[in-house]
Amino acid sequence: MAIERTFHPLPPWQRTDYCGALRKDDAGRQVALWGWVDGRRDHGRLVFIDLRDREGIIQVVFNPERSAPAHDVARSLRAEYYVAIKGEVVMRAPTTVNAALATGEIEVMAHALEVLNPSAPPPFRITEEEQVTEELRLRYRYLDLRKPLLQRNLRLRHAIMRATRAHFDEHGFVEVETPILWRPTPEGARDYLVPSRVSPGHFYALPQSPQLLKQILMIGGFDRYYQIAKCFRDEDLRANRQPEFSQIDVEMTCPRPEDIIAIIEGLFTRIYRDVLGVALDVPFPRLTYEEAMERFGSDKPDARFGMELRNLTAAFAETELNVIRRSLAERGAVYGLRLPSEFQLTRRELDEMVAQIRSRFDLGLSWAKVATEDEWQGPIAKHLGQTEKSRAARVLELAPGDTVFLMAGARNKVRPAMGDVRLQLGARFVSLPPGLLRFMWVVNFPLFERSEQEGRLTSVNHPFTAPCPEDLEALERDPLSVHALAYDVVLNGEELGGGSIRIHNSELQLKVFELLGLSRDEAMDKFGFLIEALSYGAPPHGGIALGLDRIAMLICGTDSLRDVMAFPKTQRAVDLMSGAPAEVDPAQLEELCVKILS
Ligand code: AMO
Repeated sequence: MAIERTFHPLPPWQRTDYCGALRKDDAGRQVALWGWVDGRRDHGRLVFIDLRDREGIIQVVFNPERSAPAHDVARSLRAEYYVAIKGEVVMRAPTTVNAALATGEIEVMAHALEVLNPSAPPPFRITEEEQVTEELRLRYRYLDLRKPLLQRNLRLRHAIMRATRAHFDEHGFVEVETPILWRPTPEGARDYLVPSRVSPGHFYALPQSPQLLKQILMIGGFDRYYQIAKCFRDEDLRANRQPEFSQIDVEMTCPRPEDIIAIIEGLFTRIYRDVLGVALDVPFPRLTYEEAMERFGSDKPDARFGMELRNLTAAFAETELNVIRRSLAERGAVYGLRLPSEFQLTRRELDEMVAQIRSRFDLGLSWAKVATEDEWQGPIAKHLGQTEKSRAARVLELAPGDTVFLMAGARNKVRPAMGDVRLQLGARFVSLPPGLLRFMWVVNFPLFERSEQEGRLTSVNHPFTAPCPEDLEALERDPLSVHALAYDVVLNGEELGGGSIRIHNSELQLKVFELLGLSRDEAMDKFGFLIEALSYGAPPHGGIALGLDRIAMLICGTDSLRDVMAFPKTQRAVDLMSGAPAEVDPAQLEELCVKILS
């Protein structure tokens, strides 16, 4: 067909309504609609079209007596043709009412139809019911986006952003945009680099977060900053991580941790109220890092269920069991978990769990079934003495029929491994009521930890985090004992955000860099601009960043960030629709002085 017959850049008439927004009160009105053909049914002389737009679906009826040309065209319509129609809203006969459809009491009797664009046969139907591989969905993302669930999720995300902007605006925060082409600043992941054409051999890094820029905005006098900021991290991807994601990024001048905590609790209250109509209980409970690790084996506890870890080190102090005795001799610890009798794992399941924990954590998990307080059954039972069994039974509050899990070793290894066991048992046995929200703050993090591979100190948060003032004197003597003025906000086991009070003193900042293994020269080379800025009357400051995508994921009730992003990437950081990342023209590389080695 000649292109001038099929190309309609302008609509033939203006739309009066969204298809899915029509209701029985509209009966009798003349309407003009645009939308996609969701399906067509020919019933003798009548042709029925389900017409879909972002608000939903309406049934449109073509009767040759109303318009023979429109009826003729209607018979040729196929799935996903984009059409414009005009017609009258009428009540459906009571026997044909479709209770499953919000517009099911009415239909539109059409008298005009224009095909604005036909469609190739779609690779899948635009419905949640059809099972489609995620690969196909991402390849044809524009079709996937037409589905009601993604439409809903992205609108909820929009509502979260709107509530966020309103909240910060009302509290005197100024939204300032910061650059995407920037210097590498360490947030613990690899950088995405962009070569500079005008400075050959030099690179920008896409920001892992606007951390230093927001600090500099405080030095620059903005006092209260926020931004919905794009961040980029080249890290191993999981369901709750994307290479490109958004943060609700916040910084304040002279805040106390409780000021930031209060602003963020206010933000969550507003988001949940505006977006879901849910009232949150504030303040959120606060747990120290130590308590979170001790009770949940995690710095982002899922507190929706119990089965907490118990420290059994004292109970096993006099044990004869070799593995435990050896770990205790090496200043290790013993932790236990109780699986209540109503939940049972088979011998095979228990063996699988032991093998899985060994391969992932390189730690031995032991278990026993409890017959009575001091009669246990299972591989380790006969090696345990009466005293330790009854002491452990008391600490764990064991009852007959329970299963007990034990692990011994270095505390910083055993707790996360037992935390993992706890989450696995929870996922398997505990049925959580939908809508249960367990927010919490985790506070009092250590400032440093020792990197396992290299043995040197690394920041638990980032190197700009201020130490607790009362620990300052221990900074050089015993850096691992120093706590940070840092706080994380956690919901249902997911870390939603983290922040801290910052170092605003250039000497202290240099000292922390030095403890992290950065010489003064290296520090000045990488962070000279920060050190210099701090020396010009930098006010004390602090802030936080929340993962917008993760908040949207929890609000939408999904467990994948891909369900709340319009154009997400796969686990291999690929955009299946556009094929990014892509090869580039050799001439472009030459201009950038970049050579591909493999
Ligand atoms: P942090 O690195 O903890 O802090 O990041 C803050 C929050 O961002 C979210 N997040 C992610 N979401 C999706 N995909 C990712 N790859 C990803 N990485 C992080 C998490 C996390 O809690 N500059 C500091 C904040 C500060 O100190 O103010 C920072 O970026 O929800």
